[in-house]
Amino acid sequence: MLELSPSLLSADFTNLKSEMEVLDKNGVKYLHLDVMDGMFVPNISFGPMIIKQLRPLTNMIFDVHLMIEDPDRYVQNFKDAGADILTVHYEACKHLHRTVSYIKSLGMKVGVSLNPATNIDVLDYVLEDLDLVLIMSVNPGFGGQSFIPSAIDKIKNLKAKIRERNLNVIVEVDGGVKTTNVKDVIEAGADLIVSGSDVFADKENRIRAYKEIFKNYEK
Ligand code: DX5
Ligand code: ZN
Repeated sequence: MLELSPSLLSADFTNLKSEMEVLDKNGVKYLHLDVMDGMFVPNISFGPMIIKQLRPLTNMIFDVHLMIEDPDRYVQNFKDAGADILTVHYEACKHLHRTVSYIKSLGMKVGVSLNPATNIDVLDYVLEDLDLVLIMSVNPGFGGQSFIPSAIDKIKNLKAKIRERNLNVIVEVDGGVKTTNVKDVIEAGADLIVSGSDVFADKENRIRAYKEIFKNYEK
């Protein structure tokens, strides 16, 4: 697969409904929802209450990225809010295997995200249990930051590991991705591309531009 998951963090929050309609109308299948708690990351965004209100407005797949400490406390709330994919941070979980099992037991797809400084090897013993790995290409907390170049090798190494082990795990990449650098991210092995500030700067045109680029890599 190769799909775009626009990050709502860069949307106009006074017009979320119409922002989402534009994505829907332009054939976007995934919506990336960034949840920040002011503890794991130095910023606070929104939580399950907002996601629940957005849920009836679209059929897009809700790709929820939890940047919160001890996420087990809120897994049920995000299930009730309508999350389809629930991604937690490796760095925020004391018992990652337990968290992963818990999310799956509620019928959601499960992802684990790695900060830029975290080695992919930490996932060796849970990789086969995951639906998705989210590689952060910025330090989480804010939209509009610059892509950290070392993420490219990390994506390549993760993809190689997934292939070697013959697993079916989606590689998602998040942070600083733009139409100008997305080719490198795709060629490194990304399947699901998060883009926030770049998409929302000029929604229809950028979505079209991403789709044009994706066509060259149809898998
Ligand atoms: C960063 C978030 C990202 C962010 C991406 O902490 O996880 O999803 O919104 O925004 P851009 O694409 O602007 O880097
Ligand atoms: Zn994110």
